[in-house]
Amino acid sequence: MCGILGYIGDQRKTVDVLMKGLSRLEYRGYDSSGIAVIEDGKSRVFKSKGKLSKLKTKINKHSPKGTLGIGHTRWATHGDASQKNAHPHISGGTSVVHNGIVENYLDLKNELKKKGYKFYSDTDTEVIAHLIEDLSEDGLDFEDAARAAFKKIEGSFAIAVISDKEPDKVIATRRFSPLIVAKGDNENYLASDVPAILPFCKDVIYLEDGDVAILEKDSIRITDIDGNKVKRKVQSINWDPISAEKCGYRHYMMKEIFEQPRAILDTMRGRFSEETGEVFFEDVDPSLFKNVKRIVALACGTSYHASLIGKYMIEKFAKISVEVDIASEFRYRKPIIDKNTLAIAVSQSGETADTSEALLEAKERGAKTLSITNVMMSKIARDSDGVIYTHAGPEIGVASTKAFTTQLVAFYFLAIYLGRLKKQITKKESIQMIKDALSIPQLIEITLKLDNQIKDLAKEFFTYRNFLYLGRGINHPIAFEGALKLKEISYIHAEGYAAGEMKHGPIALIDENMPIVLIAPGDGIAYKKILGNLQEVRARKGKVIFLTSDPHAPEIQGNVDKIIEVPDCPYMVSPIISIVPLQLLAYHIATCKGTDVDQPRNLAKVVTVE
Ligand code: AGP
Repeated sequence: MCGILGYIGDQRKTVDVLMKGLSRLEYRGYDSSGIAVIEDGKSRVFKSKGKLSKLKTKINKHSPKGTLGIGHTRWATHGDASQKNAHPHISGGTSVVHNGIVENYLDLKNELKKKGYKFYSDTDTEVIAHLIEDLSEDGLDFEDAARAAFKKIEGSFAIAVISDKEPDKVIATRRFSPLIVAKGDNENYLASDVPAILPFCKDVIYLEDGDVAILEKDSIRITDIDGNKVKRKVQSINWDPISAEKCGYRHYMMKEIFEQPRAILDTMRGRFSEETGEVFFEDVDPSLFKNVKRIVALACGTSYHASLIGKYMIEKFAKISVEVDIASEFRYRKPIIDKNTLAIAVSQSGETADTSEALLEAKERGAKTLSITNVMMSKIARDSDGVIYTHAGPEIGVASTKAFTTQLVAFYFLAIYLGRLKKQITKKESIQMIKDALSIPQLIEITLKLDNQIKDLAKEFFTYRNFLYLGRGINHPIAFEGALKLKEISYIHAEGYAAGEMKHGPIALIDENMPIVLIAPGDGIAYKKILGNLQEVRARKGKVIFLTSDPHAPEIQGNVDKIIEVPDCPYMVSPIISIVPLQLLAYHIATCKGTDVDQPRNLAKVVTVE
């Protein structure tokens, strides 16, 4: 979950590149940060507990000069969030940054201790620095020592290392954790993720497991762990550098909420024909769906909620049974999977350890695999037989917003695709469905105009300590997602329930101190049933925030405290609209409370531990 970065070159100030890059990786962890820069043949290391701004203050006082360096932003795993555990870790002239886990670190630590190495941190990373130093003491040059050390390490990791003995190269490797290297003119970079290098260059190489990259000022060499040369493709990234900036918004989350109409257009772009009603996916072969009798969707958090809605869409349009599994549970319950099962891994980052492991488990049990992800060439994408990229652009706010709505759109198009493939919907029907999808960006634009009204609403409600979200039908997972958004950024306890479940327990919680968000767009059966829930809540004096597309309906007059009016829209796309005001509500409640919206406590954007 940490972010690592490296730079070598004389085109810019190393320290500026590291600090700018780290600010774009901070979403991966923000417990502590640090950099090492080699200045006049000697490493200068700066570390700080807490946010990057603290490190900045330290560096501003004694800014190091030099043409190569590495940086790190940490989400604590081994050892608490403290200055001593912050990376880089050093041994002699070797400095190391690391994302991941060294599983055999205790054995290695004991061996190194016997040789007299002293440990100053509680991390697993420190063994890597001592190991490389020890191997160079044995006479190996930096490159060979690094490779020999990488060979000894077990676990999942991305590592970058520099050495005072050879201050003209940065060496990096990866196994199961992401790492890219990027080519500039007389300068080269490495990073955990693309946004970190976007302001500087666009040509990147996605390293593969076991690759070792040796970056010098004017070259990048890639070898396997034994030093044999390997060839990797250079890919040009078409993300706009601005897409990873706040662009005048106070928080990334708000920017990303407002980006949803554009992001959704990008998800749909080039993937349909309005004339024939056909849907296309560039990285999916239709043979993947041959003989598919059932689908299992695997995901965590927000992506899990998107999958619950995807189930509705696929079952309705394609009549294929879909089960949705919490990825962290899937592997531990002997799932029934065969070659007629399609496993769909859904993940914004494409890196979530639980989802990635669940996908591999399904694969091992014979399933065909497909992923829905936002990150090109991510682990989950690479491990799947087919991939649908959501093209939402970088999502930096820890609370997922545009990643969610674009996942829903990807599911919607997949449902149309499967519906046509399995002949469950006609050409005419799919043309209409595509028309409905095309109306979504405009409907979200209308919904976003509620921003000021929701801000006022937040001012009235931010002091409550508990919230209940209730929804029905295709909108019932929106209750889960609305509640998750609120709790993760405002730290208010919130529960999401299928509205019909209320009377089976949660109703006991309702009194005048409990705001209840009833999600009831449209006028179908789900809406009519929710009116019943409204009466039950009112009878117990609960405070009602009612999300509806018919604010003048006589049944709600005088029965609700607040109305959120969303535009009327086709039922199957309604969750993509209903979630937007709930994202805004969570955001404004959090800002009223003064919590850290983009980097809420204890969380990280990418969860690479199980
Ligand atoms: C969403 O707001 C969360 N921060 C979190 O639940 C997230 O959706 C989950 O960790 C899964 O991440 P992924 O989509 O990158 O796999």
